[in-house]
Amino acid sequence: MNRTDDFILEIDKRYSELSGSSCCLSCGNALQYARPKDGEVCVDIGSGRGNDVLKMAIEVGEKGFAYGIDISHGMLEKARKSARKLGLNNVEFRNATLEDFGLSDSCADLVISNCTINHAKNKENVWKEIHRVLKKGGRFVVSDIFATEKVPDEYANDPAAVAECWAGAVTKDQYMKTLQDRGFIDIQILEESTPYPKGKIEVASFTVIGWKKLCCCGCN
Ligand SMILES: C[S@@+](CC[C@H](N)C(=O)[O-])C[C@H]1O[C@@H](n2cnc3c(N)ncnc32)[C@H](O)[C@@H]1O
Repeated sequence: MNRTDDFILEIDKRYSELSGSSCCLSCGNALQYARPKDGEVCVDIGSGRGNDVLKMAIEVGEKGFAYGIDISHGMLEKARKSARKLGLNNVEFRNATLEDFGLSDSCADLVISNCTINHAKNKENVWKEIHRVLKKGGRFVVSDIFATEKVPDEYANDPAAVAECWAGAVTKDQYMKTLQDRGFIDIQILEESTPYPKGKIEVASFTVIGWKKLCCCGCN
């Protein structure tokens, strides 16, 4: 087993346990700002119990589609059950990671995420994957946490602390640099909390929007 497996196993364990609870696992209003439109293809990465995916499926209608991406078996089971209950045919919950959604290139109009990307070991690869699946001119709206200071390695390398949704956080500067390096444009912070303690560090929550360029060449 390699280190990445350790992290994934810990996340599956923690979130499968939480799938039966109703505690809030979000840290912002990504979906509210994203405003999915009729006919759009939407993806929620780290979709958890699936509530945002189901709302997007209803908002985009029969000509649109909503995908949920998660690796927690408990969360996926809960989300699929809710989709069946609602009788929705334009929704799919996939057992996939933040670094490989298993979706085709340029298939999505919108990618959202809420309080999830902080868990990823390689955040550059997550943003690369978001960029890959977005159509030209497509947008992301992501709520997440950032750390007010660099997280010490002893916590950042601890799978249990990362699964608890704090030790994987990076600083705001590092977060924004990753988005800019990936080539997203018109990046804006839509909301931001005041700092608060979480685990052994101080974090803040924010919601960020950005677009994949609408150019014809040289911008993949
Ligand atoms: C804090 S919960 C947020 C759930 C949901 N977005 C919400 O707002 O209620 C984080 C979710 O991300 C999922 N997750 C964390 N790391 C992941 C990874 N590497 N690949 C796929 N899903 C992951 C977890 O299983 C969990 O369901």
